[in-house]
This record gives sequence, C-alpha cells and structure tokens, in this order.
Amino acid sequence: MLVHEEEPFNAEPPTGALAGRFLTPLDAFYSRNHGPVPRIDAAAWRLEVDGLVERRLRLSLEELRSRFPEREVVATLQCAGNRRAELIEVRDIPGEDPWRSGAVSTARWTGVSLADVLAGAGLRPGAAHVSFTAPDVAREADPPQPYGGSIPAAKAVAGEVLLAWAMNGHPLPAVHGAPLRVVVPGWIGARSVKWLERVTARADPSGNYFQAVAYRMSPPGADPSRSGPGTGIPLGPVALTCDILSPEDGSRVPPGPTEITGYAFAGGGHGVARVDVSSDAGRTWSQAELDAPAHPWAWRLWRAVVVLSEGEADVLARAWDTAGATHPETPAALWNPKGYGNTSWGRLHLTCRR
Ligand code: MTE
Repeated sequence: MLVHEEEPFNAEPPTGALAGRFLTPLDAFYSRNHGPVPRIDAAAWRLEVDGLVERRLRLSLEELRSRFPEREVVATLQCAGNRRAELIEVRDIPGEDPWRSGAVSTARWTGVSLADVLAGAGLRPGAAHVSFTAPDVAREADPPQPYGGSIPAAKAVAGEVLLAWAMNGHPLPAVHGAPLRVVVPGWIGARSVKWLERVTARADPSGNYFQAVAYRMSPPGADPSRSGPGTGIPLGPVALTCDILSPEDGSRVPPGPTEITGYAFAGGGHGVARVDVSSDAGRTWSQAELDAPAHPWAWRLWRAVVVLSEGEADVLARAWDTAGATHPETPAALWNPKGYGNTSWGRLHLTCRR
C-alpha cells in the first residue's frame, strides 16, 4: 500500500493490485480516515435510531441480525479525493493528500438494509434526510467533532443502502468500520460512515463538518479555509468515470500488442454503456471489451489490446453512459480548491522499447 498518512491512517493500493479483480481483496482495499480508528467493544456497542421517528430504537448487533433480514450488496466505494494528485499537478491544493488512482475499491457487503431498520422505527412526516454519527473525532474539522454526514431520506429508504458488518465474507476489519458501517452504493465514500453509532431522521441535512463544509465542490476561486457551512455543491452521487489500472503509469513495455485494463463506474441513475481506448493521444479510438453489468452498484472492468510501436505512447480511456454522455478530458477542466471529483479520462504514459 502507498501510505499517505500513518495517523490518521490513509493508504491506497497500487493500481496493479486492483487490476482484473472484480472484488478487491481486503488487504488491498483503500483506507480513508479523518481521525484515529476507534477501539469499540462490539458486545457493549449499541445502534441508536432517533429523530423524526415513531419509535426510537436501541439495538445490539445480535438484535440487528435477528430482527431484520440479512442482505448483500456488491458496491464500489470511491473517495471523492481519488486522483487528486492529477489536480495538484494543475495547481497546488495545500493540506490535502495527493491520492493517486487507488482510492476506489469494490466489496460484497453483508448486513441489513437501512430501509428495513427505518421501517422498524417508522419515519415521521417531515423526515427528509437521514444522518449518521460516528465516534472518531477529526482534528481537521472546525471545531473538532466526531465524523458524520447524511443522505436524503429517498436514498436511505431505497433498499440498497446497507448497515454492514461484513465485507467479502469476512467480519468488517476495524479500519473499515467494525462493528457496523453504512454503505451508500453509488455515492461518494464519505457518506458511508464507519463505526456507526447513531442514525437520525431529520428535516435538514446534517450540520456535521464533513457534510456542511467539507466534501462540497467549491468554485475554483473560493478559499476553502474561509468557506462556511453550505458553500459549494454538496457531493453525493458519483459522476461517470473511467480509469486505467494496468500496466502501471510510466511502465516500459515491448513493441507490439499490449493489454490495457481498467474500470468504468457510474454511481447510479445512468449505467456505463461503452469504454473507448486510444493509444495515439486521442486521434483514433477503439472499443474496449466491457464485462457484463453483473451488479448495478459496482464498477465494470474492461480490457483492450493496443498495438504500440517503439517510442513513447500516451494511452487514454474514456467511458460513455447510457444517456450518451462522456466525462471531461482533462484534470484542468475539473480543478477545484479541495481537489474532489477528478473524473477526467484515464491516462497512461508508456515507454515502448525492446
Ligand atoms: N467514517 C468515519 N467514521 N470516519 C471517517 O474518517 N471516512 C469516509 C468514510 N467513512 C470516514 C468514514 C471516507 S472520506 C471514505 S472515502 C470512506 O469512509 C472510506 O472507507 P474505507 O476506509 O473503508 O475505504
């Protein structure tokens, strides 16, 4: 893993560890933390469900498992800061880690549906949002506060949002949120709150720093250190994106046919329809072979063979969605003060020599 910070722990796999694997092994799954990983006694832990509900709930893990049907969802988590390093090359982004292409991973999550738990509590009229609270205190938050966030009630009751205790058939590791985390398929990773303690139905979005101030798309001229609550566009659904996972950027390959692999992901609403690959900096394109859409909330892996002649080569990859739209060509088109949402075309520089 490439470790950006030891404390709080922030690490991503090299893209080669993601390439060609639909599910990401636990030891290669990226890890994004704003505070220290809390130590939680699973036996003493309880989930509180409160706010605009008919019945407040207080549930142990055992009660969650026995009262609600178990559900599985295969979902890709992608951090809003994935590929920030390319934005930093355009213009510096002080105070933010230069994540490369590895802050994206896919798992089979097991737990209960948030919709079932909310139905058990009974949402009252006026419950338009559902917020999540965790115990880890992030010092970067102003003022320092436990991590939290919210999603609209319509997404919360849609069925696919899980309260998960396992990933890829293993108990959730501490760093990924044990004993229980939220998984919001198709939304930026920040909303998938780990070490979940409280679910609150409410009229407005959460006022937590990570909802009201951070994880918002500010305009290029804004000063993020001065932006108050509510500035910028709150990030939710993941926008269409596509990236190259192998070979590694900067590799040396022999002249002739080279296999390029990667993923495309559309966070919901529109699906991925096609992936194009170019090995001549975008003058000509060929279509990649795209895996079948086995799971609606997961990435689609693809592969393409390009024939390279001796010299330097720039390989590009872009996806199209089911609305016939594609994504921006360059990181420069997307630069923003916190470095979120770099969904520009996948790019790879190769040296082709015997
Ligand atoms: N939940 C808590 N409690 N604290 C956090 O710092 N980080 C969020 C989200 N949930 C975070 C959290 C962010 S920004 C992302 S991208 C995902 O967790 C990452 O999940 P992972 O570390 O399991 O990959």
